[in-house]
Amino acid sequence: MLKVGLIGIGFMGRGHLDNYIRLESEGFPVKLVAICDIDPAKFENKFVPGNIDVGTRKYDFSKYKLYTNLDEMLEKEKLDYVDICLPTYLHAEATIKALDRGMHVLCEKPMALNSKECTEMIEAAKRNNKKLMIAHCLRLWPEYEYIKECVETERFGKFLEGYFYRGGGTPKWSYENWLLKKEKSGGCILDQHIHDVDTINWLFGKPSAVSTIARNVIPGSGYDIVSTNYIYPDGKVINAQDDWTLQGDYGFEMLFRVNFERGNLIFQNGVLKVNPNEGKSFIPELPKEMGYYREIKYFVDCLLNDKPITVAPPESSKETIEIVEAEIKSADNKGQVTPVL
Ligand SMILES: NC(=O)c1ccc[n+]([C@@H]2O[C@H](COP(=O)([O-])OP(=O)(O)OC[C@H]3O[C@@H](n4cnc5c(N)ncnc54)[C@H](O)[C@@H]3O)[C@@H](O)[C@H]2O)c1
Repeated sequence: MLKVGLIGIGFMGRGHLDNYIRLESEGFPVKLVAICDIDPAKFENKFVPGNIDVGTRKYDFSKYKLYTNLDEMLEKEKLDYVDICLPTYLHAEATIKALDRGMHVLCEKPMALNSKECTEMIEAAKRNNKKLMIAHCLRLWPEYEYIKECVETERFGKFLEGYFYRGGGTPKWSYENWLLKKEKSGGCILDQHIHDVDTINWLFGKPSAVSTIARNVIPGSGYDIVSTNYIYPDGKVINAQDDWTLQGDYGFEMLFRVNFERGNLIFQNGVLKVNPNEGKSFIPELPKEMGYYREIKYFVDCLLNDKPITVAPPESSKETIEIVEAEIKSADNKGQVTPVL
């Protein structure tokens, strides 16, 4: 049985909390024992809802040891791992502190604000011989796993082209509005668009260069709208777009269209449809659980069985940050083709 401490129960932290409650009820060998959040109102169930339907219930916090100070929790609790759902600007610091205290770490995406911080996190995991995984949930999201399988097995032939999109209303729920402060979140390009950047990196590896057109709409929030072309030596055509300024009743949406030599995949309105060139289109049978549930199960399984983190190794999550850094540079230069280092 692994003992866990959850750090940050804002929007995403509550999504993780729901999954710990579920996993425990299913008899999975993981037990949430402590929760830390700087804002004590959260322990009175005073929450601001986010853009997807997670963590919306009322919780019984009397079951957990509650802390408003991270150092105090790390000092007092004997935990196997911590699950970090803090704002991005705190990821590196909190991860390194927990690793240095001998705990494994599951940390929300994006890994950190920049690749230098990512390197420090990886070094801390290595020197303490502890596991570190960044919760890139799409790597355990059934519809995205399906593309990965098609790319690797070439079931529909070679990959030709892909378009990846996510977008929605401006996030207005975050603690002290950190999400809309460029220096704390990196803006939409680092916070939200990174899901598709990481998917592209996971599927195809680092591109040699990127060309990004992006714009700022909300004062001080960095790039809010982004469109990137990913350049690979073999000529694959890949584009990803994000826009978190879609107001009104737009809500939130994620989708992709991927084309192979002998068929294409369309993911829209939460449904994946496969269109082979020959024969009828079909909707594949996929696991029903979301990536949030499956990523925790995967991480716990790696810890319990001392398996390496192969689905989302931290070195790969760092590469994803390096791609975004090149995208920001390209956007700063009006779309100039920029090498990915
Ligand atoms: N995987 C996904 O789909 C997904 C979706 C949304 C957010 N996220 C990520 O999750 C992380 C958190 O985002 P969020 O939307 O939940 O933000 P949030 O502002 O809703 O939650 C952050 C929480 O951290 C707490 N906090 C802030 N400073 C603290 C400190 N020093 N010590 C302890 N607690 C502190 C806040 O009180 C708040 O409850 C971010 O990295 C974000 O990118 C991931």
